[in-house]
Amino acid sequence: MSLLGIDIGGSGVKGAPVDLATGAFEAERMRIETPRPSEPKAVAAAVAQITAHFGGTGPVGVTFPGVVLHGVTRTAANLDRSWIGVDAAALFGEATGRPVSVLNDADAAGIAEMRLGAGRGAQGTVAIFTLGTGIGSALFTEGVLLPNTEFGHLELDGHDAETRASAKIREDEDLSWDKWAHRLSVYLRHVEKLISPTLIVLGGGVSRKADKFIPLITGVSAPIVPAALHNNAGIVGAAMVAAAARP
Ligand code: BGC
Repeated sequence: MSLLGIDIGGSGVKGAPVDLATGAFEAERMRIETPRPSEPKAVAAAVAQITAHFGGTGPVGVTFPGVVLHGVTRTAANLDRSWIGVDAAALFGEATGRPVSVLNDADAAGIAEMRLGAGRGAQGTVAIFTLGTGIGSALFTEGVLLPNTEFGHLELDGHDAETRASAKIREDEDLSWDKWAHRLSVYLRHVEKLISPTLIVLGGGVSRKADKFIPLITGVSAPIVPAALHNNAGIVGAAMVAAAARP
């Protein structure tokens, strides 16, 4: 059984049909640059283009890099502000002609990691962070998701945490792995004080290079492991959620 998952990010909109049992892509992923300005109509057109590219019928799962409640986007830290208050599920449904489920990108990645990746079978409190343009978070306790946690926006030393410690900031400020790991350590220690996770999973594209920075993170008690599905987790989780919403 396969279903189309689409992941909307600050820099790219990416989609692929996903084998729900394994998380494998059944066709080569399609990526389109996120339109600038990243207004709802333009992004919906990108989602429709990806959907048309793969064809088929049935539900589509779409992630969004902000808070999503009942299909409505409530924040847009790294996309155009005009997204706030948009019924994204309806907008994408009209643009694609298919039933669409919309959820937060990190929540989608977390769902995929819990089912098929680094969080598989994990008990207790699992905190998953996606390190990309921003910092996304997904929090699970005994396998149940508490959606829209937004821990990337915790305030640290007077700054929004994701403006200090995201993967994009590492590149923009040309930080060494060591310096970046230090910033992540400060961030994760803070998170640990608040929620005492029993497992921390670090995802996003940079998790492919986990050996360069996870060993340099210090002062955090919980085990820290890299995501297994890396940057594909959002697409996989989106497809899983769409499958669950099928009538
Ligand atoms: C957004 C989150 C999102 C994260 C990763 C943050 O800026 O507020 O909703 O999960 O970026 O895209």
